[in-house]
Amino acid sequence: MSPADRSLTVTIDGPAASGKSSTARMVAEALGARHLDSGALYRGVTAARLRTGGDPDQWTEQSVLEAAARVTLAPGATTFAARVDGAACEEELRGDAVTALVSLVAKMPHVRRWVNRTLQATAAAHAVVADGRDMGTTVFPDATLKVWLVAIASERARRRVLQRTGRPPTSAELTSETAELEARDRKDSEQTRPAADAVWLDTSGITQAEQVAQVVAWVRDRERERRKP
Ligand code: CDP
Repeated sequence: MSPADRSLTVTIDGPAASGKSSTARMVAEALGARHLDSGALYRGVTAARLRTGGDPDQWTEQSVLEAAARVTLAPGATTFAARVDGAACEEELRGDAVTALVSLVAKMPHVRRWVNRTLQATAAAHAVVADGRDMGTTVFPDATLKVWLVAIASERARRRVLQRTGRPPTSAELTSETAELEARDRKDSEQTRPAADAVWLDTSGITQAEQVAQVVAWVRDRERERRKP
């Protein structure tokens, strides 16, 4: 697909494990844009601060901001990968230590401002499909299209275990993963909001291919509307 117009910005927001990242990645590929994963930046900042050491209860916002200076976004063909200390570290970013502390870091107002400015500067130069929780409300209020993804918690938990282990969850895994996701939803509830002009997409009963096709069709509609005299 040829590169999309640099002014194209699509936002995909929703709660934990609602399928934002995978949908955003595939939509970006289909549109010739790049996937901008805001959660990966929060995870990168958390990983950088963890590397510095010390008791997380004592982390100051200033020390987290200093760690953020070691996090960068590297453009790939269809994504921006978060790097810490100059190197990719995908497994560390998705690991339990980072997942347990990322909501604490994401609550810090100066850290949120740093992440938002980094995302806005990146999107100014590229067509992007940005995913997160507040992309449509705070970071890109003028986006071409805003999508709010929803799915019931047990379905989100099923997908998360499948993604991690490559097999369907046992019933014990399903119960604990659902509880973990619901706890994180509560911690993140303040910044997890649909924009008033977002279109809602419930992914509980549809395939990933259907989700992606639906979002791409909406983007095409918006672009057609924009070109109308
Ligand atoms: O994919 P999943 O929803 O599990 O998480 P993620 O998108 O990688 O985001 C990790 C964490 O970063 C979330 O639990 C939030 O605490 C935080 N986050 C945020 O506050 N705002 C965003 N725009 C994106 C992530």
